Amino acid sequence: MICPSLPDTPSGFPLAIIGAGALGLHFAARLAGCGPVAVLARSAARAETLRAGLVVGDARFRPQAFGPDDPLRAEWVLLLVKTGDTEAAARQALHLQPHGILSLQNGLTESRLRAVCGSVPAAQGLTTEGAYRDSAGVHPAGAGETLLPPGFETLAAHLQAAGFRARIEPDMGPARLAKLLVNLAINPLTALHRVPNGALLDAPYRVELEALVDEAWPVLHAAGLRLDRTAAHARVVTVAAATAGNRSSMLQDVLAGRPTEIDAITGAVLDMASAQGRDLPLNRTVYTRIKGLAPP
Ligand SMILES: NC(=O)c1ccc[n+]([C@@H]2O[C@H](COP(=O)([O-])OP(=O)(O)OC[C@H]3O[C@@H](n4cnc5c(N)ncnc54)[C@H](OP(=O)(O)O)[C@@H]3O)[C@@H](O)[C@H]2O)c1
Repeated sequence: MICPSLPDTPSGFPLAIIGAGALGLHFAARLAGCGPVAVLARSAARAETLRAGLVVGDARFRPQAFGPDDPLRAEWVLLLVKTGDTEAAARQALHLQPHGILSLQNGLTESRLRAVCGSVPAAQGLTTEGAYRDSAGVHPAGAGETLLPPGFETLAAHLQAAGFRARIEPDMGPARLAKLLVNLAINPLTALHRVPNGALLDAPYRVELEALVDEAWPVLHAAGLRLDRTAAHARVVTVAAATAGNRSSMLQDVLAGRPTEIDAITGAVLDMASAQGRDLPLNRTVYTRIKGLAPP
């Protein structure tokens, strides 16, 4: 399918994706069906490996992959690295001289992104698309919705043309807090207990799940979350049920011995709580236990 919204541009690529991981390659493979998409890898060697091709979903994908020192320009950048790599990836994005940089990371990273990007528009949207990777390739794990803030209409059009459910959300803050609520409840508990998401709905984990949500809710509500306490619990339960068989990204990180995103998820809520003069002992304990499991 040729998508009219992704034209080749004389200045380089209309779109670049930084982070050739599960989500980055899932997005790249679909977008590449519409037009040129540059994939920026962490190193030249990784870019070369990627150019040889890999399986994404049920097809072979040969990305137009580049290393950090390749001269390249792109009009829009999607930033899809883990939260610990945000600043390095943002600096790499700036070299492309884009009109804008959009993160679809979990957790809260927008202020860190903006601190690096200066006057270049940079923001955090969100996505409920899912994908994971293993030695066989990248596996899409459920279609979702992608929300982008105003100013990123062109990027939203690219995503829509590639078949993603994507829309501009005028008020990203509350939507981001709702996703943060889900992540702070499901991710650390699945990682600590090494269980799939759905197991949290039953004993003995359900009590802990409800307690984390109950404790964090006043902080998130004061910060702008537009779910009352009952709706907040219902949201977490609905997501855990809808993704019952999935292994959360934090569980996958812990099992693989990789750093987790706990700082950008529970850590961000603990910071919010402390700015509000509140303490969240249960969430703090979970944070400390996850920090004890993973490499720095
Ligand atoms: N996967 C999902 O289903 C999903 C859903 C919603 C949101 N998210 C969020 O999306 C983000 C990415 O998740 P993911 O699952 O795709 O992670 P991932 O599979 O670990 O992929 C991240 C990729 O970024 C690369 N990277 C790191 N620093 C880089 C840099 N400076 N320049 C270029 N590439 C760099 C990594 O390279 P190396 O391999 O060399 O380390 C890795 O390939 C996370 O914040 C996650 O929470 C994921």
